[in-house]
Amino acid sequence: MSADGSSLGRRALLLGGAAAAVGGGTAAVLAARSGSPEPGPVAAPPGGAESVAFHGAHQPGVDTHPAQAHSVFVGLDLRPGAGTPDVRRLMRLLSDDAARLMAGRAPLAAQDPELPALPSRLTVTFGFGPGLFDAIGRPTDCPEVIRNLPGFATDRLDPRWSGGDLLLQVCSDDPVPLSYAVRRLVRDARSIATVRWSQRGFNQARGSEAPGTTPRNLFGQRDGTANPAAGSPELAEVVWVRDGPSWLAGGSMLVLRRIRMDLDTWDDFGRAGKEMAMARRLDDGAPVTGGTEFDEVDTRMVDGRGMPIVATGAHVVLATHRHPTERMLRRAFSYDDGPNADGTPDAGLLFAAYQADAATAFVPVQARLAESDVMNLWVTHVGSAAFVVPPGCADGEFVGQALLGA
Ligand code: HEM
Repeated sequence: MSADGSSLGRRALLLGGAAAAVGGGTAAVLAARSGSPEPGPVAAPPGGAESVAFHGAHQPGVDTHPAQAHSVFVGLDLRPGAGTPDVRRLMRLLSDDAARLMAGRAPLAAQDPELPALPSRLTVTFGFGPGLFDAIGRPTDCPEVIRNLPGFATDRLDPRWSGGDLLLQVCSDDPVPLSYAVRRLVRDARSIATVRWSQRGFNQARGSEAPGTTPRNLFGQRDGTANPAAGSPELAEVVWVRDGPSWLAGGSMLVLRRIRMDLDTWDDFGRAGKEMAMARRLDDGAPVTGGTEFDEVDTRMVDGRGMPIVATGAHVVLATHRHPTERMLRRAFSYDDGPNADGTPDAGLLFAAYQADAATAFVPVQARLAESDVMNLWVTHVGSAAFVVPPGCADGEFVGQALLGA
């Protein structure tokens, strides 16, 4: 019996009718040879054909919700001597590639229609780092916070995961079209840019939990609860630039941090302590002070002896915005690069935060976390990159056109 009792079964039968028209002959021959009954119909996968529009006021892959199951972040450096005409040509080509790939088509001159055919909500998002502004002779157009993101006391940054002139953020629910998109985009960028780093992340598989369920990170926590709701006016206000140069209106800023998790010591720590470190419960993400997942933590609640229930250093207490300009959209992915040689896990979080101004959002929040977040016992920031995310573009245009000129 099908999972939903009937409708999937009926659908499979209907789809099976079409499949039989195409492949029934082969199936019948195979069945006759093996002496077994003809194989039953197979339901078409529902999500593969879903696509996201590339063109629009904003780039895709920021408010695309839920975040896809797989991501690859690639930091590129422009080759020495690359100037405005090169960057313009590059962005024209990559934007065209992205539009085609997201629609389930191969880039121009590519001959592999099968690999991109089921994009599974593929998105391609571009970010501009300080070096790109230098290369086009407009260094002062790069916001100061993107050029010089402040350092934090707890940073242990490795240049291997940091910096970059141009970011490709490529996400999909299926790693196969994702892999194809990344390799074609990087291939088309190769004459003008080299790969500085590449980082791979994931969320739970789409369909593993009910739609709308907040994903879990590798600590087992529901991560993303307090984000502004998808498609809400709050999200638009938090994420998109309104006051700023006209070439950036409708754009955003991305801070990407590679945060290593010490999963061995986390695994061995008591459950109650883990929940107090976050001030939220592990099973359902609800505050330790009671309620359900989307309730706020009550920092004033006391226990029977009059002692505060929530620790002042709990992650959520310090991360909660203290001013509206501190809000951000967190679009994180877990990473797991397999065990190190000594058997310890090389895993953590690719923390990606979008906001209209990282100077008023990420920076003050991370400053508080670096100073006294209890979670610092288990997390270490090992990579950092910040990018301007230009606005989206219309059909026939390319990302960054207002900055680079047509
Ligand atoms: C590995 C590192 C991190 C882990 C495991 C983590 C995990 C979590 C979890 C489980 C929550 C509660 C549920 C939710 O609202 O999403 C949360 C909330 C939050 N985190 Fe983190 N986080 C990490 C790093 C960061 C960083 C670096 C920042 C920003 C600088 C940040 C900012 C926030 C914010 C703004 C909230 C929402 C607070 C609220 O308004 O309730 N987190 N985090």
